[in-house]
Amino acid sequence: MSDHKVEIVDWFAQREEGSYRDEARNILDSYAHPWDILAELAQNAVDAIDQKRSELGTQLEGAIEIEIDTVARSVRVRDNGVGIGDGDLKRVLHPHFSRKRGRSLRGEKGVGLTYIALTGNRFEIVTKTSGVTRQLTVTGSQDWMCERGDRPQLRIEPAKDDSQKESSYTNVTVAEIPKPAVESDDIDIFSLSFQQLEYLLRTRTAIGWTGALFRQPVPAQTNVQLIVRKKNAEAESRLIDFSYASPETRLPKKMQW
Ligand SMILES: Nc1ncnc2c1ncn2[C@@H]1O[C@H](COP(=O)(O)OP(=O)(O)O)[C@@H](O)[C@H]1O
Ligand SMILES: [Mg+2]
Repeated sequence: MSDHKVEIVDWFAQREEGSYRDEARNILDSYAHPWDILAELAQNAVDAIDQKRSELGTQLEGAIEIEIDTVARSVRVRDNGVGIGDGDLKRVLHPHFSRKRGRSLRGEKGVGLTYIALTGNRFEIVTKTSGVTRQLTVTGSQDWMCERGDRPQLRIEPAKDDSQKESSYTNVTVAEIPKPAVESDDIDIFSLSFQQLEYLLRTRTAIGWTGALFRQPVPAQTNVQLIVRKKNAEAESRLIDFSYASPETRLPKKMQW
C-alpha cells in the first residue's frame, strides 16, 4: 500500500482463530466450581418456566428433569418452560447473547449456555415452541479447545416432538465432560452419590428456592425429578424438593425445629 492511502480497518470484525479459542477459554476459566454446570442449567430451566408463567398469566405447574449419567459423563436438564424460537436458536450459544437483560429473571450474563456447550465434547438442545420442534447439535468443542480439531459448527434441524401434550419445552444435554484436570483439587460431580447431588442442587443452584427462609409466598408447584445413572446399577430416580436444603434438613427429624 502507498504511504499516502487511508486504510479503514474494522478492528472488531477481523479475528484470528486463536482469538476465538482464547475467548472460549476465558469463558470456561470464568467458572470455578464443579457444580457450575448444574447451576447454569438449573437457572435457565427455572427462568424459562417463570417466563412461561408470566406469558400465560397462570400458575403453570413446572416440570424439571435432571439426569446425571456417570458413565457417559453427561448432564441433561429438561424443562417445560417457554422453549427457544427459531431465530434465537441460532444465537443462544453466541457469547453474551441473552433474552433476559433488564428483566427480573435470575440469569443475566448471557454466557451460561456458551459455557455449557464448551464444557463437553457433545452438546445438544431439543426445543419446542409455537408447535415446532428443533434440534441443535454441536460436536467437538473440547477437541477444538485442546487444538485437536476444527472450530465446531452448529447444526440445526427439525426434530421429533417427544411430548405432544406440552406446548413448549427445552431439553439440554452436555456429554463427554472431561475429568477435572487436577482431581485432588476439584470435586468430580460424576463421582457423587444421589444424596450428594440432591444436596448440591438444593444448596448451590436455583433448585434450592430460598423464598421460604424469607417468608415469601409459596410459588406455583415445580416438580423436580433427579435421575442418576451409575455403572452396573439401575438408575436412581426420585422427585426432590424445589426448596433450599438448610443444614437442618440433614438432621434426624426429632432434632429439627
Ligand atoms: N432452558 C431454556 N429455555 C428457554 N430459553 C433458554 C433456555 N436456556 C437458555 N435459553 C435462552 O438462551 C439465552 C442464553 O442463555 P444463557 O447463555 O444461559 O444466558 P442468560 O441465562 O444469562 O440469558 C437465554 O437468555 C434464553 O433466551
Ligand atoms: Mg443462563
